[in-house]
Amino acid sequence: MKYKHIIDKMTLEEKASLTSGKDFWQSMDIERLGINSMFLSDGPHGIRKQAKAADHLGFNPSLPATCFPTAATVANSWNEKLCMKIGEFLGEEAVAQKVNVLLGPGINMKRNPLCGRNFEYFSEDPYLAGKLAASYIKGIQSKGIAACVKHFCVNNQEERRMAIDTIVDERTLREIYLTAFEIAVKEGGVKTVMSSYNMLNGTYTNENMHIMQDILRKEWGFKGVVVTDWGGSNERVAGLIAGNELEMPTTAGETNAEVLNAIKSGKLKEEILNECIDRMLELIFTTEEVYKKSVKEYDVKEHHSLAQYAAEESIVLLKNEENILPISCGTRVAVIGDFAKNPRYQGAGSSIVNPTKLDNTLNCLKNTNFITVGYAQGFERYGKKSDKLIKEACKLAAQAEVVLLYIGLDEATEAEGLDRQDMKIPQNQIDLLEAIYKVNTNIIAVISCGSAVEMPWISKVKGLVHAYLSGQAGAMAVLRVLCGEVNPSGKLAESYPLQYKDVPSSSNFPGKEKTVEYREALYIGYRYYDTADVEVLFPFGYGLSYTNFEYSDLKIENDKISFFLKNTGKFSGAEVAQLYIGKSSDIVFRPKKELKGFKKVFLKPGEIKRVTINFDDKTFRYYNVLTDSWEEEPGEYNILVGSSSKDIKLFGVTSRKGTSAPAPYDKNSLSSYFSGKAANVDTMEFEALLGRKVPKSKWDKSKPLGYNDTVAQCQYAKGLAARFAFHIIEFVYWFLKKIGKRSTANVIMMSIYHMPFRGIARMTGGVFNMPMLDGLLMVVNGQFFKGLRHLLRERRKMLKERSKSVKSFKASKTKVQATQEG
Ligand code: BGC
Repeated sequence: MKYKHIIDKMTLEEKASLTSGKDFWQSMDIERLGINSMFLSDGPHGIRKQAKAADHLGFNPSLPATCFPTAATVANSWNEKLCMKIGEFLGEEAVAQKVNVLLGPGINMKRNPLCGRNFEYFSEDPYLAGKLAASYIKGIQSKGIAACVKHFCVNNQEERRMAIDTIVDERTLREIYLTAFEIAVKEGGVKTVMSSYNMLNGTYTNENMHIMQDILRKEWGFKGVVVTDWGGSNERVAGLIAGNELEMPTTAGETNAEVLNAIKSGKLKEEILNECIDRMLELIFTTEEVYKKSVKEYDVKEHHSLAQYAAEESIVLLKNEENILPISCGTRVAVIGDFAKNPRYQGAGSSIVNPTKLDNTLNCLKNTNFITVGYAQGFERYGKKSDKLIKEACKLAAQAEVVLLYIGLDEATEAEGLDRQDMKIPQNQIDLLEAIYKVNTNIIAVISCGSAVEMPWISKVKGLVHAYLSGQAGAMAVLRVLCGEVNPSGKLAESYPLQYKDVPSSSNFPGKEKTVEYREALYIGYRYYDTADVEVLFPFGYGLSYTNFEYSDLKIENDKISFFLKNTGKFSGAEVAQLYIGKSSDIVFRPKKELKGFKKVFLKPGEIKRVTINFDDKTFRYYNVLTDSWEEEPGEYNILVGSSSKDIKLFGVTSRKGTSAPAPYDKNSLSSYFSGKAANVDTMEFEALLGRKVPKSKWDKSKPLGYNDTVAQCQYAKGLAARFAFHIIEFVYWFLKKIGKRSTANVIMMSIYHMPFRGIARMTGGVFNMPMLDGLLMVVNGQFFKGLRHLLRERRKMLKERSKSVKSFKASKTKVQATQEG
């Protein structure tokens, strides 16, 4: 241990205190040993340092910081250098705000387009997400602080995220849901990992020895600290044993007492606690070094410019019929849609940033070369269809040569803690589009949202520019694309299915009661659409440019491929060339093709370059469940180079010696997986893949409710009071929605409805403790008076004990100081 000399001087109480928060955002300090608190702050696309009132869902304001485009947006850039630069700027801002640990990036897989937090995640592909995240991490950590990759792992739905049990087979876990984390740890060198709220195959992730010890520590060699998600600690001691050093936020000493008791009873070995403390100290000491020098202010303007550049690199041109784009100089343009005035530029929840500046389209129009004939709001962001607004918009549209229509999803639809209900954009926006189409067919839609939407209306627009959630400077970035100052080079980092029911996990999303079953296994996103031959609206990796590229002369070597890429059009531009690998096999089922490399290449008109993409340790590997290790199947592999997952330009074959692992599957019992048609796998086949029975997915309503049951389950509680409370919550939610207060209604879902009872103790910073919770649960389970008495008695006891322990802490501090001085 590196810090044995300090750890030897610590009392057990001090050790325990270091493993839990001091308050909502800080870790504990021990002044006498020179151990300071660390400040942990969100988030992934800008710093959310709350200087005053604290919360984990972004309700209270934070200090101003640059709001960069969200991860879902920047992923479309496929630009590792850019991600590194954003990371560096995030790091600089974090340092300027005295943050030690930046809680990002978020790298969960987009298993299903409805996951409410997809806007915060990179991709449906683990390789792309991992590579981009590693660059963010390197950038952030180059400034001396720590990044925190999250949420480890299989946190792919928001509803019931603190209680749901994800049932997934080992190979899928490794290949799809862990690979991005593996890259973040091994290549990014990330210093902290945030465990997720949910369970994995029956155990909370932060207590799960398999992922925390076997994989994270032993296989990947992670030497850093694991932090719980806020309020995500179930059993503190089990977490520590698994190597989850830090629980956040504070529980006002309640779990410290659990740690002490566990040491006394022998359940927790002191060596394990010491090792956790050693890693905590390394994190604290290394991330405070930077504060020993004078901290520079960052350049707000320069950071705003990078936010704009990041958006420019990430915008995806989806449609360009009759080359309506770029808009030529002097064209008379009508600007329509609420989003042009009030930009939709980031998602809701813990990642929300208070921007240093916010551009909007109307203010930026003066910097374009087209003539604006006017602006019309067109629709109410949170409202119903407005004939008046539509009429105004149509009148304006009729006077213009081209209509720029700003549409998308509103803030209340894409939010942490909630999943979307469908993949549609609001009907009042579609009504507006249809009405405008009758007076002017030259429509260019600019769409802003953080995840895939259905577009049954697409034939009504000639141009379609996807801005995603492009941060505080996104408005100008979009305008520069529209008028051709920037040639779009973004490519979708997720597939756009034609309709929600085509999504392979649609019949298993979200898990509504106890579990969610990942029956589709490896087949998420393009891995499914491609293999099962399901037509999509836009494939993974797709995006248009104002120029054209030609691919030729593929050369395959042992450790790399190379080919020529030429810009054959009239504009300078960048192309994202993508390497996919496929193999047909009767032994190991696999998707038709999988991304294994990519390169973004900038070329002037007529320019040609030889592009090289190296193979790496992930290129040919698969996880063999019999040998419990990564193996390589011998034989021929298809090498596919394309400008999207569908548009393959070059094809070749290479042969590999492989490893001689035994065949892991019985093909006959896994026919859906071998055919790739894995959207509706039945229980028997899923069990054959899992290698065990699937656990019960429904609530056992005959059982009393416990710590890990949620408030939503009060609907079947024995206690009348609990059932009554449940109906009140439902009524308030319904009522708030009815009167148009959707964001406030969401708050109820995010912070009450799906909260496990345990969270009441873990999230209230000591106001409510576990023994009080026992009282509350008695009330819930039908023992109203007994429970109430218990609750009040435990409260009195807690307050008394707290004042006693404050006195004894002060006394022991004086004693330790006196010993030191003596
Ligand atoms: C989120 C985390 C976030 C934390 C602190 C949680 O609700 O899941 O991503 O870092 O809050 O705000």
